[in-house]
Amino acid sequence: MRTNRFPWPREQALALLAAADTAHFALTGDDGQPMLRCVHVVVDDDALCFHASPVGNKSQGVGRSAVAAVERVLAIVPSYAFDPERACPATTWYQSVQVRGVLERIEDPPRKARVLQRLMERLQPEGGHVPIEAEHPLYRRVVAGLDVLALPLTELDGRAKLGQNRSDEQICRALTWLWTRAIGPADTLGIDARIEAILDARPELPIPEFLRGPTAIEADSSNLARLCCRPRDTEVDTAVALVEHEYWNVTTSPETSRLAHLRSPVWVGARDHAGQLIATARASTDGAKHAWVYDVAVDPRWRGRGVGRALLRLLLDHPLIREVHSVHLQTRDAAGFYAQLGFVPYPSETPRRHVRIQA
Ligand SMILES: CC(C)(COP(=O)(O)OP(=O)(O)OC[C@H]1O[C@@H](n2cnc3c(N)ncnc32)[C@H](O)[C@@H]1OP(=O)(O)O)[C@@H](O)C(=O)NCCC(=O)NCCS
Repeated sequence: MRTNRFPWPREQALALLAAADTAHFALTGDDGQPMLRCVHVVVDDDALCFHASPVGNKSQGVGRSAVAAVERVLAIVPSYAFDPERACPATTWYQSVQVRGVLERIEDPPRKARVLQRLMERLQPEGGHVPIEAEHPLYRRVVAGLDVLALPLTELDGRAKLGQNRSDEQICRALTWLWTRAIGPADTLGIDARIEAILDARPELPIPEFLRGPTAIEADSSNLARLCCRPRDTEVDTAVALVEHEYWNVTTSPETSRLAHLRSPVWVGARDHAGQLIATARASTDGAKHAWVYDVAVDPRWRGRGVGRALLRLLLDHPLIREVHSVHLQTRDAAGFYAQLGFVPYPSETPRRHVRIQA
């Protein structure tokens, strides 16, 4: 096994593997030469499985040692986050998993069919085909003729390199750099979710300044709200519940609202001390010219404490919004709230806006 200075709990490494669409496999062919292949994978029955042609060279790896790897880069951290002069501290923070073992061929037709069906569910979750079953007339010959290969997950090595050699203060500084740096698409797209993933993986870290939220009214942690620059997908129903009864959503179904949140390039929130989402706001944006703010709401129990203002400031400071020329929104009765954040009514000479409602 590789030396692992940054071990990661097995169940988290397994989750990364289970969420992966593809993995890199290092295999050995009949000529003894190593080969590297990227294949669609699915975890089934405690093995990482993929399919191959029985006459292709991937199948030559059966019965031989193989290594599979999946990784998720969370951040490329600039050197100047740690040192104003030296280039050496530049680094990458990532999570990775390696599986090592002997590649096996699955012989049992029902299990082969199950793996193939699960691969299809990954690639084509909308369906649109007859489900794969070993004895189905459409598939009997295909299932018999394809190789389905499996690497058992017995030797599984997870690694999470997330600045463990750095002090909490240095990591907070690096996260702030990641938030403010935003120099290109690789940085701006998804940096919010990646910052949150780092904070999730290091729950003991102090909160970086830009995510602090409003100061507690009393020195009582139950009064503290913490901002997040991208709520988790699993929090979408809570966000929808916060906005679904507002006047602008009377004709919007909860399902449409869910998709609107999940597909918004910018979605920020705030959580209470117990981690419950208590405020949400989202925006669509082209990252340069215009952004539109939607679905701003604070849990009624938390209103009037500065959460809404802190949330909007975070949204306006998002890498995909902070440089746009104009930020738009519509409001019936919160103009005073937005005025404090620099919003002014449209000039009266603005031509009337047009809209196309899709059927
Ligand atoms: C509007 C809303 C998001 C404000 O959130 P909040 O956390 O209560 O606001 P804050 O405590 O951060 O208030 C910041 C400032 O805005 C003011 N403010 C808050 N809501 C306001 C409103 N509806 N109209 C005018 N001013 C308002 C506050 O008085 C405060 O001013 P102050 O600092 O001078 O005291 C919240 O009240 C809410 O969720 N309302 C229901 C949903 C809604 O109307 N959303 C906006 C739709 S466009």
